[in-house]
Amino acid sequence: MKRKTVIYPGTFDPVTNGHLDIIERSDHLFGKVVVAILINPEKDPIFSAEERKDLIQKSIGSSMPNVEVDVFQGLLVDYAKRKDADVIIRGIRAVSDYEYELQMALMNRRLEPGIETLFMLPAENYSYLSSRLVREIAENGGSISGLVPEVVEKRLLEVFGQ
Ligand code: PNS
Repeated sequence: MKRKTVIYPGTFDPVTNGHLDIIERSDHLFGKVVVAILINPEKDPIFSAEERKDLIQKSIGSSMPNVEVDVFQGLLVDYAKRKDADVIIRGIRAVSDYEYELQMALMNRRLEPGIETLFMLPAENYSYLSSRLVREIAENGGSISGLVPEVVEKRLLEVFGQ
């Protein structure tokens, strides 16, 4: 396991402490973790992919040298193959996540049978945390302290003019 490269994909708009928790857990288990940020033309993110990458890198700092942060377009399984990775990590918070995650994992398996999806659980205090809720709270002037890394909190406060 320690020699394996795994992909942890997502939108990360913005990265939360729940995402960081999964990155840390993956880093303990695997040789290399590639955090892969999707450039999705259909979504209208708050932060550009490059800024999301920068925020994740700053949040990680130098604490996890085997974690790479990258952006990708197109199919996740094609990206995983390019990175020579045969494991995709996804965090599952509650039963409500399971249906969507199951669908995606099985579709990815159909597309590329050699790639496995592993589900990991974040710490339970992050089980109700999502990027969508963080955006909504920040947009409406609520406190996001403790939910996201400090660099992200600072950028959200700038974006929403507080
Ligand atoms: O953080 P998210 O938005 O839940 O992440 C979703 C993501 C990026 C993992 C998913 O949308 C994805 O992999 N998109 C890439 C396109 C693709 O491969 N689609 C088929 C998936 S079955």
